[in-house]
Amino acid sequence: MSQRVAILISGSGSNMVSLARSMVGDHPARPCLVLSNRPGAGGLTRAAEMGIPTAVVDNRASDRAGFEAALQAALADARPDWIALAGFMRILSADFVAAHAGRIVNIHPSLLPKYRGLDTHARALAAGEAEAVCTVHEVTPALDDGPILGQARVPVLPDDTPETLAARVLVMEHRLYPLVLRRLCEGQRAPVTLPYSPA
Ligand code: GRF
Repeated sequence: MSQRVAILISGSGSNMVSLARSMVGDHPARPCLVLSNRPGAGGLTRAAEMGIPTAVVDNRASDRAGFEAALQAALADARPDWIALAGFMRILSADFVAAHAGRIVNIHPSLLPKYRGLDTHARALAAGEAEAVCTVHEVTPALDDGPILGQARVPVLPDDTPETLAARVLVMEHRLYPLVLRRLCEGQRAPVTLPYSPA
């Protein structure tokens, strides 16, 4: 029987699409739910078009405890083996993470532990970094922390803006996240490094 993957999003869901597209054929997992905390997230439409069940748990409808209780209820119905955060812009509590320990993963557009949080590309450019990186890691209670499962490096070009750099990194995110998810489903947690190649 296939493993089940719930994908949590807040926005356009391009990483969600790359994960969902990868879970075909002999892949050991299938997407069981795409859940957004934002009712208008573009990724919801894209998931529905791919035939994946969708749900919205609006974080503005209640306090954090209420939000996480509703999130837990939606996940209990979907029975995921893995929870993949893909541009999910809410911080999960330690209790929530403990309830799914070792089974939540996230993608972050930096060389963790550098540049946790927001505006990673602007901060990397301001620091004069020669490379930008994206990281897939296990989620632990600390923000953008937890064991690293995979990384991909991207060159910084002389005229880069945060936007151009983000677009170049996103191409590698779309390759790295499916690779790491598949490895996880096959029981491999050793960190993997993906070499850069242009889109
Ligand atoms: C990605 O850059 C991801 O690394 C970050 O948020 C962005 C989400 O993009 N956490 P998308 O919604 O997957 O297109």
